[in-house]
Amino acid sequence: MPTLDELRIKHPEIRADFTIDQNWDRYSAAEHGIWRTLYRRQADVLRGRACDEFLDGVKKCGLVADRIPDFERLSEDLRKATGWVVVAVPSLVPDDIFFDHLANRRFPAGQFIRRADQLDYIEEPDVFHDVFGHVPMLAHPVFADYMEAYGKGGQRAVAEFGMLKNLARLYWYTVEFGLIAKPEGMRIYGSGIVSSRAESIYAVESKSPNRVHFDLERVMRTDYRIDDFQESYFVISSFDELFEQTYKDFAPLYARLKSGPTYRPGDVLASDRVHMLGNRSYIGGSHAVG
Ligand code: PHE
Ligand code: FE
Repeated sequence: MPTLDELRIKHPEIRADFTIDQNWDRYSAAEHGIWRTLYRRQADVLRGRACDEFLDGVKKCGLVADRIPDFERLSEDLRKATGWVVVAVPSLVPDDIFFDHLANRRFPAGQFIRRADQLDYIEEPDVFHDVFGHVPMLAHPVFADYMEAYGKGGQRAVAEFGMLKNLARLYWYTVEFGLIAKPEGMRIYGSGIVSSRAESIYAVESKSPNRVHFDLERVMRTDYRIDDFQESYFVISSFDELFEQTYKDFAPLYARLKSGPTYRPGDVLASDRVHMLGNRSYIGGSHAVG
């Protein structure tokens, strides 16, 4: 990850909290066009796949296909909904900076937009992933509280426990790749899924991945893949459930996590509450390592 000094070459105005000016006026017509293409594809694919909370958030935040959102205007809508704001950053920021933003209800969003030849995949989070993917859920009151609590929990995990790796798995399997079971079927809320056309279809319809009911300790013991679609998704039945499972002191949990197994991304355990077993998996736990 580049240092502040390195980033200052391209962004002379960068501040100590890694925020920069969005400079909305400087996006080109071609850049707004990339947003439009991505937005339209996702609006289409997410009907009947994303949860209503996400789709409502898109509306509440005033996200439209026409243009990359202006963070100032976006923040006004979001502040009214839940008190969150969006600030611009060059891209990924150091963990402590990231947690400080979340703990104070500021969502750091990448300022740049991917190139036309990167519509399906980029390594670094851009404005489409960060804003279209993450911001709609921040308009949901319970999810908004969860994200602030995560920021505070991140600070604690680093400073007091040295358990960031375990906590990062929680972020991965909820904020980025979470599914929610609704009466009408399996729905997406994770930003890594909603900002990807192919994974939006895969996460809901493919017979390949496991869909296992969310359990905090199970998730914190499970490695994840960053280079491919997920082999397992963890499913909540409501955002209240997610909040209730996580709104407690993690100290005893961190103590337990110091020993015991780590699971591989595709493992299914006898103790799992399985919504759908992937067709590449078998129940066991014999895969467990560590
Ligand atoms: N309850 C956690 C702790 O005690 C903090 C947290 C809340 C983390 C919600 C993630 C999500 O550290
Ligand atoms: Fe993300």
